[in-house]
Amino acid sequence: MDISDIVKTISQENFAEDLIKGLSSIPKYLPSRYLYDDKGDVLFQKIMNLEEYYLTRAEFQILQNNKEDLLDYFIHYNKPFDLIELGAGDGLKTRILLKFLTDKNAAFQYIPVDISGNILKLLSSELRKEFPDLVLKPHCNDYFSAMSELRKFEGKRKVVLFMGGNIGNFSLQESINFYNELNKSLLAGDLVLTGFDLKKDPRLILKAYDDSEGITAKFNLNLLERINKEFSGDFKTENFSHFPYYDPTTGECKSFLLSTVNQSVRLKALDLNISFRAWESIQTEVSKKYSENEIEALADLTGFAKIHNFYDDNKYFTDSLWVKK
Ligand code: AVJ
Repeated sequence: MDISDIVKTISQENFAEDLIKGLSSIPKYLPSRYLYDDKGDVLFQKIMNLEEYYLTRAEFQILQNNKEDLLDYFIHYNKPFDLIELGAGDGLKTRILLKFLTDKNAAFQYIPVDISGNILKLLSSELRKEFPDLVLKPHCNDYFSAMSELRKFEGKRKVVLFMGGNIGNFSLQESINFYNELNKSLLAGDLVLTGFDLKKDPRLILKAYDDSEGITAKFNLNLLERINKEFSGDFKTENFSHFPYYDPTTGECKSFLLSTVNQSVRLKALDLNISFRAWESIQTEVSKKYSENEIEALADLTGFAKIHNFYDDNKYFTDSLWVKK
């Protein structure tokens, strides 16, 4: 068994546990990380290319327009550093940074971390082709295990990237825990760059999570198909409806699957029966949108100081650069 098989086995056990827990709760929920199986990865790639999904384009523009300023902070008198990317995914945006850093002959190694061994393999082989001289050390892990491993990388400055708005999947309390944990793995002066989606016209946000082609609906419903496949379930996806809801006060955009009829579903592999009332909800995702004040407060609360917020032209999104105090 190699490391990605081990991670798979562990996550399968967690998946079963999380399923039983989430589907027996009132109200029902499922953790969003299970949206990303092979089919979910492909659907998410499609989402990132949608006109209505402004997040990816906005962050791309931020990196394009600010790479010089941003990387001045990273390079810092050309002292060598470790560039660690949590939730690297397909690393499309990071390529802009890597290209610029390698062109400048910056002394760094790139450590992409992702829970999906598949995506990580793909990313690594492409980066090796594109940047033959890049020192590349991929890690297949969840964020929290990766962070405790970070403590072993000593001696060099660390620059941690947490891009793409992935932070949005955490509740405020989870974000606080996350940055507190991260803080323990860093030394004073180390940097963190996080991509936050900003509060904006709720109508724009809702469209991003309910696109006209129905790709996001497919992405959400694929979770039920995945459960059917992995736990011999009999979810009928035609009896569920994708429904996003945005609360402008909390900034939480929640996605649900609604049962459109009274029905009961059986997961044979878990010997579990679940009943649904018509219009009962399963929450499958939170994508929290932030205000600038919340971002600064989060930094302050967790032992960081904000250095600078980088914005796209529309100010839809920010990459916020923090330093550990
Ligand atoms: C990958 C968590 C940033 O919340 O915007 C996209 C996932 N879900 N459309 C997001 C997602 C539905 C995405 N993140």
